[in-house]
Amino acid sequence: MRIDILTLFPEMCEKVMSQSIIGRARKNNVIDICCHNIRDYTYDKHNRVDDTPYGGGMGMLMMAEPIASCFESICKQLKVRPKLIYMSPQGSVLTQKKVLELSQIENIAILCGHYEGVDERLIEEYDCEEISIGDYVVTGGELPALILADAISRVIPGVLSSNECFEQESHYNGLLEYPQYTRPYEWRGRRVPEVLISGHHKNIEEWRKKESIKKTIERRPDLISQVDMNEEIIKLLDEIEFKYNSKTND
Ligand SMILES: C[S@@+](CC[C@H](N)C(=O)[O-])C[C@H]1O[C@@H](n2cnc3c(N)ncnc32)[C@H](O)[C@@H]1O
Repeated sequence: MRIDILTLFPEMCEKVMSQSIIGRARKNNVIDICCHNIRDYTYDKHNRVDDTPYGGGMGMLMMAEPIASCFESICKQLKVRPKLIYMSPQGSVLTQKKVLELSQIENIAILCGHYEGVDERLIEEYDCEEISIGDYVVTGGELPALILADAISRVIPGVLSSNECFEQESHYNGLLEYPQYTRPYEWRGRRVPEVLISGHHKNIEEWRKKESIKKTIERRPDLISQVDMNEEIIKLLDEIEFKYNSKTND
């Protein structure tokens, strides 16, 4: 898979995407991430990328043409047109389901806005999908783009040591992950749950599933209705909800 990031701050994106797991995956050619400076595609001597908004108002807007030239140069180089995503607080809020859907696409390009955002006609011209990282506003699209690129990259086979690493994590199956513990066995008077040191794999698995459902009910009850229910989950849910209710009724 290849991800192209269109930005005014390529060094910032390059630096983050060169570290740790993603950096290693890029070195090993498991994923290809390229950062492009939109300013390299300006057409006036001052290398302007922004201008004032028509109708007045605060701040500056990124002009359409430098972004279009940057994107079209990427299309020419790749000989395909990547799906163009614009990071925007006005987009649909990113979910793990969307991450998995995007990870199936061979070429995506991510546009980072800045200042007050980008000229609306650019978004229309390339039928951009708008994705938000949450209902708040940050200064620029770089951090949102890096979050999206990271989330997609880590579900590409070969980036993590095995698919199990992300298949058991929060949000993969709609639930939050169970609590985890490491050494020492006792820390400041708190012990690791006995089942985890029992060596009984079936019991451990069952405990983890129950804890995962319990945590989701406690912290994110809104997620439960979206979980793909199978008989096992329904049974565990019944059991836990019973205990959960009886606990709160005490
Ligand atoms: C200051 S914001 C512009 C906000 C815009 N004027 C609005 O009110 O919708 C500048 C850029 O940061 C990025 N951005 C800010 N908040 C974001 C969010 N929650 N999700 C994704 N991108 C965001 C976008 O690329 C945006 O173009």
